[in-house]
Amino acid sequence: MEIGGTLIAGPAKGPLKGSITVPGDKSMSHRSVMLASLADGVTEIHGFLPGDDNVATAQMFIDMGVQIDWLNDEKTALRVHGVGLHGLRKPVAMLDAGNAGTCVRLMTGILAGQRFESTVSGDASLCKRPMRRVVDPVRSMGATVSGNDGGNLLPITISGGKLKAIHHISEVASAQVKSCVLLAGLYADGVTRVHEPKPTRDHTERMLPLFGQPVAVADDGTISMTPTDRLTAPEGVVDIPADPSSACFFAVAASLVDGSDVTLKSIGINPRRDGWRRVMHAMGASLTLLNQATVGEEPVADVRIRSGGLHGMAVDPNDVPDAIDEFPVIFAAASLADGEFVLTDAEELRVKESDRIAAMATALRLAGADIDEHADGAVIRGISSLRGGAAVDAHGDHRIAMAMAVAAQRADGEIRIHNAAAIATSFPNFVTLAQGIGMNVRWAEDAGAA
Ligand code: S3P
Repeated sequence: MEIGGTLIAGPAKGPLKGSITVPGDKSMSHRSVMLASLADGVTEIHGFLPGDDNVATAQMFIDMGVQIDWLNDEKTALRVHGVGLHGLRKPVAMLDAGNAGTCVRLMTGILAGQRFESTVSGDASLCKRPMRRVVDPVRSMGATVSGNDGGNLLPITISGGKLKAIHHISEVASAQVKSCVLLAGLYADGVTRVHEPKPTRDHTERMLPLFGQPVAVADDGTISMTPTDRLTAPEGVVDIPADPSSACFFAVAASLVDGSDVTLKSIGINPRRDGWRRVMHAMGASLTLLNQATVGEEPVADVRIRSGGLHGMAVDPNDVPDAIDEFPVIFAAASLADGEFVLTDAEELRVKESDRIAAMATALRLAGADIDEHADGAVIRGISSLRGGAAVDAHGDHRIAMAMAVAAQRADGEIRIHNAAAIATSFPNFVTLAQGIGMNVRWAEDAGAA
């Protein structure tokens, strides 16, 4: 896929040092603007991630009549004038989710509760990703959905209204599926229940009560919600903590580059997002938690990382959903660790913004790594440094681009990473922050090269 943008990365010229704050959490930014739009009253959100994905979600609500005031030029603070659960207006044109899977999957739940018909599409990558996982449950709640491949592929057209509550037993461990069903459940006539095969990120369950909608979690993990028929804007500001999935790139970079010492300020350490830290700890990384606190309903801490002897290990399958977005950069760490790293039970990586197992295996191999691809994971035998001079393809996937920029810090020459512009979807200032701690990375265009 040609989306453009070439990064030139590596090798690091010295230890990485510094203390940085990464942008707001992507998952929570999506949810905050969704719930604020559907609430009665005005919600102010701070720490919003101004990535293309989140701006696409905000734009969908603007397209359906919600007034959103951006409070600064960076688009990290906004005021949302909620229209209530039943106040959205039929959009005049197709809604565009861009590259954002979370946007389209969660919006499927919200749009299923609307009496008007709407059509949602996205970019070339999103149009290849499976939607049946959210379309099937909203259909069983009574919504009508049509689309390519029987509604599995975008664009999809959705109409609904008053829905039936269901007990959804999800086959995939997916927070997007769970959240879609809960959001549709706001429009249902009874108790909506969701059961997932493994626990996944719980930001929807944590945020709904902030808007006056209780959610219960049973001992077996089943989530249930009795709709209160309205959401209410919270009294105070909704603060979004820094995104652990963005922080993880610098944690791995600092682990890999000798003599490094980097502190990531106030990042989310919710256990359902903290799998990367458990995996890195098991790989021997030096990680220290400092200044633990709470932001809104979410635990945060500073995480200090010093470089140090990473070794391979077998990832506990139960940790997979909690680190699902971090495996591209964990693959980079494993390629440069001692011994063998084994990942299984991670077939979901194949249906992300790209096929992340194939994309990382191909890119790392081009840089000399020793990696076997498996249907549900990979086996990686670490080497001491990667080969410079390689040109690799990020396939328009933000996390592949950033993971390879990190890997390149331990190469013996520059690596060119093509189709990297999608970094803007989740981490627009990645290159600036990376340069700030001493990573060797730049846009080819900035250097005057093509
Ligand atoms: C997300 C859930 C995950 C994750 C994605 C964000 C969310 O997807 O990969 O980046 O915000 O709910 P799945 O739920 O499909 O695993």
